Amino acid sequence: MVMKTKTGLLHAEIGKLAQKKEIEKGMTNRLVISGLIACAILSATIYSQDSATIKSAIPAPTMGIKDAYAGKFLIGAAGDIPRGYSEAELANIKANYNVVTPENCMKPQPTHPAEDTYNWTTPDALVQWCQENNIKVWGHTLAWHSQTAGWFFQPGVDGQPLTRERAMERLKNHILTVVGRYKGKIIGWDVVNEAINDGGTGDTENLRNSPWFKAIGPDFLTLAFQWAHEADPNAQLYYNDYNIEQGAVENKGKHASSMLLLKRLIKEGAPINGVGIQGHWHLNTNIPDVEKAISNYASLGLKVSISELDVTSTGTNSGAFPVGGGGGTASDEAFVQQAQVYAKLFDIFNRNSKSISRVTFWGISDRRSWRSGQRPLVFDGQLQPKPALQMIIDVGQGKYVAPRP
Ligand code: XIL
Repeated sequence: MVMKTKTGLLHAEIGKLAQKKEIEKGMTNRLVISGLIACAILSATIYSQDSATIKSAIPAPTMGIKDAYAGKFLIGAAGDIPRGYSEAELANIKANYNVVTPENCMKPQPTHPAEDTYNWTTPDALVQWCQENNIKVWGHTLAWHSQTAGWFFQPGVDGQPLTRERAMERLKNHILTVVGRYKGKIIGWDVVNEAINDGGTGDTENLRNSPWFKAIGPDFLTLAFQWAHEADPNAQLYYNDYNIEQGAVENKGKHASSMLLLKRLIKEGAPINGVGIQGHWHLNTNIPDVEKAISNYASLGLKVSISELDVTSTGTNSGAFPVGGGGGTASDEAFVQQAQVYAKLFDIFNRNSKSISRVTFWGISDRRSWRSGQRPLVFDGQLQPKPALQMIIDVGQGKYVAPRP
C-alpha cells in the first residue's frame, strides 16, 4: 500500500509530530505542513504516485537559515569553497549562510607541508570568493595533533633533536604567517583544536599527550593564543573541541576538564574570546548538557560557537577519529527524529543567543559531509531540504517551540 512507502511514512510521522500536545505552541506553520502532507498522502493513495512525488510535499524553505537568525548569531557552513562546487551549491551557500569555515584547506598539513613551503591557492580562493559574496570567514585551525605535517616535530636540518625552543619557533612562525596573511579578512580562529583527552573524570585538565604538548608543555595553548593575537589583534580567538559539553549537568568528564583548562588560560593571560563546541551529535545526544555547557562558558566571560554541527541520523558521532559510528540505514523515520533533535538544539541556541556568536554546519549537504553515510545535515545528497530545515527556520522565527527535556 502506498501509505506504507518510506516517504509516505515520513510525512505521516511529521504530521503526527505537528499534532503532539508538547509542540502545540506556535504551530501554525506545522499545521500548514500537516495539511500539505495529508494532501500528498491522499493523492499518493489515489494515484499511486511514487515517493519522489510525495517528497515534493516537503515545502521549499521560506527563507535562508541565516535570515531566520539574523541579529542573533551567524550561521555558517564548512567547505573548501568554491573550487569543485557546482553553481547550485554555491547558490545554496549564498542563500543560507553568512560565514564559511574552510573544512580542510587552512589546516597545518595543507597550508604548511614543509618548513619552507606554504600553499595558498585554495585558502586564497576561498577568502576571495567569500569577500566577493559578502560572506565572513572563520579560520580553522592552528595548533592541532591531527592533519599537521610531521616536519613540525622532527629534528632540524642540523640533525639536533626537537627542543622546546625549536618547537615554539615553528609554531610561532606558522601562526604569524597564516594569521598574518589573512589579517582583517578572517574574523576569528580556532587557535587550538582538541587538546583535551577523551575518557577522563574531569578532576584535571586531562590534556592530550599530543606532539605539541610533548614538545612545548601545557603552556603551548597560551603561547598559541598570544601569537595569534600578535598577528591579528582584531581576530576573535577560540578554543575548539568535541564532546566538551558532555558532563556539564553533573560537572564531570570532558566538560569539567574544559572548564579547568579555560580558567587556567584566562589566568595565564591568553587572549581568548570564546569556545567552539564542535557539535558532532546524534539522535541520543544529551541535550541538557549542551545548554548547561553554554551557560558555564558564558559565566567565564567567553562567547560560544557551535563550530562543526551535524546530527547523524544513524549510529553515533562524536568528533573523534576515525570516522566510525555507522550502522543501520538512514530511514525517513530517522530524518523525522533528526528534525526533532535539530529543533531542540536550535531552541537552546535561540534562547541563549546572547552567549552565542555563530552556529556552523560541518558541510552543506549529506553528500558534502565527513559522515555522509550517516546523513547528518539538513540538505540531502541532492541538495534538497530535509525535514530538519524548516523546523530550524521556524524555531528562529518563533513559529515553533521545541519540547524541552
Ligand atoms: C574533518 C574533515 O571534515 C574531513 O574532510 C577530513 O578528512 C578530516 O577532518 N574535527 C575537526 C575538523 O576539527 O577539522 C574535522 O574535519 C572533523 C572533526
